[in-house]
Amino acid sequence: MKVDVLLGLQWGDEGKGKVVDVLTPNYDVVVRFQGGPNAGHTLEFEGQKYVLRSIPSGIFQGDKLNVIGNGVVLDPALFKAEAEALEASGHPLKERLHISKKAHLILPTHRILDAAYEAAKGKSKVGTTGKGIGPTYTDKVSRNGLRVGDILCNFEDKYLAAKARHETILKSLNYKYDITELEKNWMEGIEYLKQFHLVDSEHEINNLLKAGKSILCEGAQGTMLDVDFGSYPFVTSSNTICAGACTGLGIAPNKIGEVYGIMKAYCTRVGAGPFPTELFDETGKKIRDLGHEYGAVTGRERRCGWIDLVALKYAIMINGVTQLIMMKSDVLDDFDTIKACVGYKIDGKEIDYFPYDIMENEVEPIYVEMPGWKTDMTRFTSENEFPEEFNAYIDFLETELETPIKIISIGPDREQTIVRYTE
Ligand code: GDP
Ligand code: IMO
Ligand code: MG
Repeated sequence: MKVDVLLGLQWGDEGKGKVVDVLTPNYDVVVRFQGGPNAGHTLEFEGQKYVLRSIPSGIFQGDKLNVIGNGVVLDPALFKAEAEALEASGHPLKERLHISKKAHLILPTHRILDAAYEAAKGKSKVGTTGKGIGPTYTDKVSRNGLRVGDILCNFEDKYLAAKARHETILKSLNYKYDITELEKNWMEGIEYLKQFHLVDSEHEINNLLKAGKSILCEGAQGTMLDVDFGSYPFVTSSNTICAGACTGLGIAPNKIGEVYGIMKAYCTRVGAGPFPTELFDETGKKIRDLGHEYGAVTGRERRCGWIDLVALKYAIMINGVTQLIMMKSDVLDDFDTIKACVGYKIDGKEIDYFPYDIMENEVEPIYVEMPGWKTDMTRFTSENEFPEEFNAYIDFLETELETPIKIISIGPDREQTIVRYTE
C-alpha cells in the first residue's frame, strides 16, 4: 500500500480541510505531518461548520484512525480546546486520535517569543499567526525542544529549564508579558494530553502500511510558505512540501503514491511577503467578499489576486503533483473575464519561472484573459453541466500546468464537490 499526500500549492487556505474530509472515505487512516495550530482547516457538512487546527480533517468520517505525526508542533492548551469542542459537538475522538511522542510541544513562552520577535522586526514583520510556530521549530532544530513523549517522565524539570532559557531571551528583548493565564491553560492541556494514545507513530504508520491499510497525509499551510522553497523569509517554519510527509511521519520516499495538489481558482495570501498577482482594486475586493477570504485562525483579511501559474508550476515541480484539485471556482461565477498569470516581468525582462530575487524586485505579472462563465455553478452535480467558458478555463489550466484537474469544488459544503475522469 502507498501513502497519498494532499497539500496546498499556493500560500495556504486552499481548502485542504474540505477535500481531506471528502476523500477520507477512500482511506483507512488520515495523518498530519507538519505545522501546528497556525493551520485553520474548515469543513462544512449537514449545515455545520468546523475549523480544525491540529486535529486531522479525517476525524468526521466514520471511525477512521487519525494520527498527529512527529513533524507537527502541538500546543496542549489549544489542542484541549479543539478536542473538547469536537467531543461536545458529538464527535468523540480519544480512541480514534493517536499522537506521536516525537511531536514537539509549543510552550507558552514560545508564543510569547513569537510575538516578541515580530515586535522586534518592526516594519519587516512576517505577520505570523502568533501561535509560537517559529520559536518551537527553532528549539527543535537547535536540540532544545520538548516533545510530547517528555510529558510522561520527569516533565516539570524539563519544562522549567526550557522556560528559564526563554525568559532570558525575552528579558534581553525587553519584552513585557504576563504568562499566568497562558501557563495555567497549558498545564491543564498537558494533563488532558495524557488521556490520549501517545504512540511511536513511525512504527504504527509503517505497520499499518504493511498490513495493507491506505493512508492519506494532510498538509498544512502551502508550498509557497515552505521554509526552503517559499518566499523566504515570509514563510512558515516547516517543510510544507511532499518531502515533509517523509520526515514528518517516518515514511520512505518510495512509499509515496498519489500527490494531490490543491489550488484555488484564484489566489490568496495572509501575512506579509511577495504576492505578484495581488489585486488592490475592486476586483480584489470582490474576490475577498464572494470568497469570504478572512483567516480561519486570526480573522485577518486575506490578500486576494488572480491565479499565478508561474508559482503553481514551481509548486507542482517541487511536490511531484500527480493530480490537481481546484477549489472555490464558484467565487469566480460572476466575473465578465478571468485572468491567469503566465509570466513575470522583472526589470523589463520577461521570465516564466519563480525567481530567487522575488523579494528585491518589483514583479509585473503577465496575464492571459479569458471570458468568464457568468453562471451559478454551486448546485451543479456533474461536470456535464459545466458551461463552455468554464471548460475552456480548466482546459487552459490543465494544458499550462501539464497536470489533470481531477476534482472541482463549487462551494464550501462536502456535497459541493465534482469528481472528474470517473470512467
Ligand atoms: P485550508 O486551510 O486549506 O483547509 O482552507 P481554509 O479552511 O483556511 O479556507 C478555505 C475556505 O474556503 C473555508 O472557509 C472553506 O469553507 C471554504 N471553501 C472550501 N472550498 C470551497 C469552495 O469550493 N467554494 C467556496 N465558496 N468556499 C470553499
Ligand atoms: P493553513 O493550513 C495561510 C502564514 C502566516 C504568516 C506565515 C508565518 O490553514 O493553510 P507562522 O504562524 O506559521 O509562523 O506564520 O505563514 N500562515 C498561513 N497562511 N494558511 C495557513 O495555514 C497558514 N499558516 C501560517 O500568515 O504569513
Ligand atoms: Mg486555513
